[in-house]
Amino acid sequence: MANMRKQIISLAITGASGVQYGFRLLEILLKKEHTVYLMVSKAAQVVIGMETDIVLPGRCKDMQVFLTERYSCDKDQLHVFGEDEWTAPAASGGGLVDAMVVCPCSMGALSAVATGASNNLIERSADVMLKERRKLVLVPRETPYSDIHLENMLKLSRMGAVMLCANPGFYNKAETIDDLIDFVVAKILDQLDIKHSLQPRWGE
Ligand SMILES: Cc1cc2nc3c(=O)[nH]c(=O)nc-3n(C[C@H](O)[C@H](O)[C@H](O)COP(=O)(O)O)c2cc1C
Repeated sequence: MANMRKQIISLAITGASGVQYGFRLLEILLKKEHTVYLMVSKAAQVVIGMETDIVLPGRCKDMQVFLTERYSCDKDQLHVFGEDEWTAPAASGGGLVDAMVVCPCSMGALSAVATGASNNLIERSADVMLKERRKLVLVPRETPYSDIHLENMLKLSRMGAVMLCANPGFYNKAETIDDLIDFVVAKILDQLDIKHSLQPRWGE
């Protein structure tokens, strides 16, 4: 049964292909009135420039204003943090964060999380979720996977992280790219226990 409580979700967009998944997830989380702590890696900003028409400002403050306007959300709902903002709530187990999603998750970010590198706020936030035994959903995107990628995924899965690879199913008869994006985003929302009707339910 999906939970109606408003959550605080850390969302990291890293430099793998498929940043569209991250933006669609952000849109839905804000529409459903959850609070989002957003982190966008430098590589993700390059990918966003190449894969989308979104002209994302580079500075966190500007990015926050831009995205707050883009998704017409409440000012307090969206907070954008930079890579070395160690005082951000997500940087400590004492901060109030219900769950974290890395979407899409690059193989670099996957590796850093698997080793506990914590060299930037994205890596540290994921490390905090693991140590606090809170929900961590990783949406890796690469193909083919090397042994290193697969070992990192298995290691993280065994630690309790959810490996939700960005590979949409086609059985809902997707007609558009947006349908395929929503397939993956729907799976992420299910993991966050957030009610949605993005996709038909199996068996209905
Ligand atoms: C257009 C583009 C697409 C990329 N796609 C992927 C990808 O699908 N998976 C991946 O692991 N890395 C991909 N990369 C490489 C990563 O961006 C790179 O390894 C980067 O260091 C990741 O850094 P981050 O984890 O800090 O975002 C891509 C890079 C570019 C420019």
